[in-house]
Amino acid sequence: MNARPSTTISPVIAPPVIADAAALAEFLAVARRAGRTIGLVPTMGALHAGHVSLVDAARRDCDCVVVTIFVNPAQFGPNEDFSRYPRDLDADLQRLASHGVDAVFAPTTESMYGPRHATYVEVAGPAVPWEGEFRPGHFRGVATIVLKLFNLVSPDRAYFGRKDFQQALVIQQMVADLDVPVEIVVCPIVREPDGLALSSRNFYLSADERRRALAISQSLQLAKELVAAGTTDAAVVRRQMLDLLAKAELQVEYVALADPQTLAPVEVIDRLSVAAIAARVGATRLIDNELLGPEA
Ligand code: PAJ
Repeated sequence: MNARPSTTISPVIAPPVIADAAALAEFLAVARRAGRTIGLVPTMGALHAGHVSLVDAARRDCDCVVVTIFVNPAQFGPNEDFSRYPRDLDADLQRLASHGVDAVFAPTTESMYGPRHATYVEVAGPAVPWEGEFRPGHFRGVATIVLKLFNLVSPDRAYFGRKDFQQALVIQQMVADLDVPVEIVVCPIVREPDGLALSSRNFYLSADERRRALAISQSLQLAKELVAAGTTDAAVVRRQMLDLLAKAELQVEYVALADPQTLAPVEVIDRLSVAAIAARVGATRLIDNELLGPEA
């Protein structure tokens, strides 16, 4: 009689985990020889339905779907949550089960950043405002790890969420500037039924903080409604957003109304614009955004 595997993960449906680059290369070579297109979904784990929506999009478009799970130390500031960032590979594999993932690449920190690692990718342009201002070095870390993952996987397409609007722009800028042969696909924001954007950092919120955090999506919704009802003065819209955030006692880092390509502030919302917020709810920093204006 066969003993049942002790793991709680079904070996049939959980995707195989690859930890080292050589094994990944071998796996990808087989896929490529078979003429399969490769879709990459880079993540830091603590997977939720937002991540899964990227996986599902990749599954629809590509023959072979690779998810990477790597909490990238280079994109966290010294006083940020790198050490307490939620890590649970088994739970992540469970989440991915039955979504048709062909492989999960989950490398060690040491294998991605050797002791003599000395090269980083610095994007200017869209990386400068917003997160660039409040999280110096963040996009340098993001661009570096994403380029490394692009080089390790050579995907045909790579999937990112619009939840991190600026991150997607920064990656598109890097890919264009450095001639990286990959198509970047940006997928819609997945929200809780009450509007809160799904985020791995929502795990940190207490019940009270979870309730107050709603002011972020609510103020974006308010902005959308004001603009839809004919308000075009960005200062007026911004003021109302700030009032709503203040009522929930959130510590606002920025509320921006900007051009969605350059992130330059807009004064008149008479074309497609993006509203973006970064705010702290207690110790937890959350970001969210919405497109506004005529074509939104
Ligand atoms: P992480 O925060 O794990 O997010 C991985 C991807 O999931 C990102 O492209 C992000 O925009 C997307 N995502 C997160 N929440 C989402 C939501 N509610 N709806 C839709 N998509 C969502 O972003 C990173 O990791 C890292 O910076 C990474 C790109 C992996 C580089 O380390």
